[in-house]
Amino acid sequence: MLASGSGTNLQALLDAPDLGADLVLVLSDVPGARALERAESAGIPTSVVRWADHRDRAAFTTAVCDAVEGAGAEAMVLAGFMRILGEEAIRRFPNRILNIHPALLPAFPGVRAVEQALEHGVKVTGVTVHLVDEQVDHGPIVSQEAVPVFPDDDADRLHARLQAVEHRLYPEAVAAFAAGRLEVRGRTVIWR
Ligand code: GRF
Repeated sequence: MLASGSGTNLQALLDAPDLGADLVLVLSDVPGARALERAESAGIPTSVVRWADHRDRAAFTTAVCDAVEGAGAEAMVLAGFMRILGEEAIRRFPNRILNIHPALLPAFPGVRAVEQALEHGVKVTGVTVHLVDEQVDHGPIVSQEAVPVFPDDDADRLHARLQAVEHRLYPEAVAAFAAGRLEVRGRTVIWR
């Protein structure tokens, strides 16, 4: 699992009773990230790969992939990982990288998804779990769930409502992925 921040999605996976997958490594680009503390409390090995220690995105991506492979992981689960991985990651882990995004993709890709939904005045936004491809917040969609936007919402309130959904959707998707129940046909993911 790759995370840069608070790691509440990591916690949801750690707490899931029937994930059917072993979490073998939590990797962060941010030393001291709360996600790393959560991993340590759960007895999961951690690793830090700092962006500043690498000359470019390709070198950073190689280091991340090597650490993931070295831990014996067969897939990556991204949650709030604030660095874009280069194409080597897609090559080495084809359809084996999951990400979660706080909007109904393809609406509002990028880091300001919650703020942009509010700025745009949408009545419904939501959560997307998707496979990672070469473009940001773009790969085949695994699952989505709509979340209403209320008139008095601010970004924090809306994000909290989105996260409550994330913490249910992500463990379900990871469990299906780990059980080999996700079949990818082009851009379509079929649940078996
Ligand atoms: C989540 O809202 C996720 O959708 C976005 O980053 C956030 C990470 O939250 N990509 P957390 O670190 O899991 O609490």
